[in-house]
Amino acid sequence: MPVADANLSQLLTEQRKHVTPALSRLHDHIIVKGQGSKVWDETGAEFIDFNAGIGVTNLGHSHPAVTAAVIHQAQQVSHVQCSIGFSLPYLQLVEALRPMMPHESLDTFFFWNSGSEAIEMALKLVKRATNRNNIITMVGSYHGRTHGASGITRSKPIYTQHTGPTMNGVYATPFPYWHSLGVDPSTPEEELVRLAKYQLELLIKTQTAPTDVAALFIEPVIGEGGYVPAPAAWLQFLREFCDKHNILLVLDEVQSGFGRTGKLFAAEHVPGFKPDVLVFAKGLANGYPLSGVASRRELMEKQEVGSIGGTYAGNAVACAAAVAVAEVFKTQPILENVNARSKELFDALYAIRDSPKTGHLVADIRGQGLMVAVEFRTESDPLTTKDLPAGTALPKDIGKRIQKKCHDNGLLLLTTSCFDTIRFIPPLVITQDEMAQALKIFTAAVEEVAHEG
Ligand SMILES: Cc1ncc(COP(=O)(O)O)c(C=O)c1O
Repeated sequence: MPVADANLSQLLTEQRKHVTPALSRLHDHIIVKGQGSKVWDETGAEFIDFNAGIGVTNLGHSHPAVTAAVIHQAQQVSHVQCSIGFSLPYLQLVEALRPMMPHESLDTFFFWNSGSEAIEMALKLVKRATNRNNIITMVGSYHGRTHGASGITRSKPIYTQHTGPTMNGVYATPFPYWHSLGVDPSTPEEELVRLAKYQLELLIKTQTAPTDVAALFIEPVIGEGGYVPAPAAWLQFLREFCDKHNILLVLDEVQSGFGRTGKLFAAEHVPGFKPDVLVFAKGLANGYPLSGVASRRELMEKQEVGSIGGTYAGNAVACAAAVAVAEVFKTQPILENVNARSKELFDALYAIRDSPKTGHLVADIRGQGLMVAVEFRTESDPLTTKDLPAGTALPKDIGKRIQKKCHDNGLLLLTTSCFDTIRFIPPLVITQDEMAQALKIFTAAVEEVAHEG
């Protein structure tokens, strides 16, 4: 495994100041190697990687089948521009994905490079297909940083700050998440759904006529907004709402797709659920830039020929990686591992919540599969402190301090949302031992922060 390399440290020191400071970076290190659930930096330090490139390397770093497919395709042909011809893996990928789709109506595909680009494509698709302009999005949602995608993002203002006006005709409605609705974390799911339904009905009475709305965009698990799974009743209601008003329902599974939530797609947690458009990326090609949009053919047929495309869209090497990923899902018990490791993760978080040493820090534990979060209480937030016994002192910046301690002890973790929340997105192939080791580091870090105050 890699050892400390002074040349790399020097390269880092000299060159990092020439990289745009507008790019936020959690750790100033060079990851020189990744294998399975582990990565190593230029100093030789080893980390369990609970970030997986923000939910990308779902099958682990340098998965041998994916690497072999990439090498093979690079030796055949690395680039076939998609408006000029097909590469072989492009069509093999269509063949592999069709039976994997959460609904059989999703039978027509377009491949892009990134999640944001796929969202841009979905925006064009729904506007052209309906001849309507407006979009309904969820408070807390994240769909990307390009112009249209950031225009329908409502997780943090930074993505559009000082760059407006953003795309017009976008209306946001609360997700059934207690923060969005201003209620206690203990509010029952049925009540959250009731309140969110009311707000959506209010939106079409007060802000936009439904006949002007092309589509409603939703992440089945709000990602950058805090790892909040959509209750099944909410998704079912949205389907009925969209059908009633001839609005298209776009499911953004960029982060939740490809096994992340314990099903191939999070939509499958609601049996029979039918999105009109599905957007996916991240785990699709396990680290190679590839995203996709799937819908029924009739919607894609409404796009004018030539209106979509892109130089690198559906790159041959990335498609070959994705075909290998699909084969791994077909032949190996990946989802079984997700569900077994998920239970261990939740059990450890519940133990932290139930411990007299650390329980007072925890506001909420939530998630699905290996897309899990713990939200900490914040002194300035009345929703999370209401039921704290008077006089209980809360540490500040709990999540950030835990994250730093975990890093120093060999565990990479990310925060999420504008609230004090840590998320867990390890590779789906993480072993029982690695999970136990990571949870030990995490629990110790939470205890230290609770103790230090
Ligand atoms: C749900 C969701 N949609 C869209 C995107 C944007 O994808 P990309 O960063 O590949 O542009 C992301 C990225 O995190 C995401 O989580």
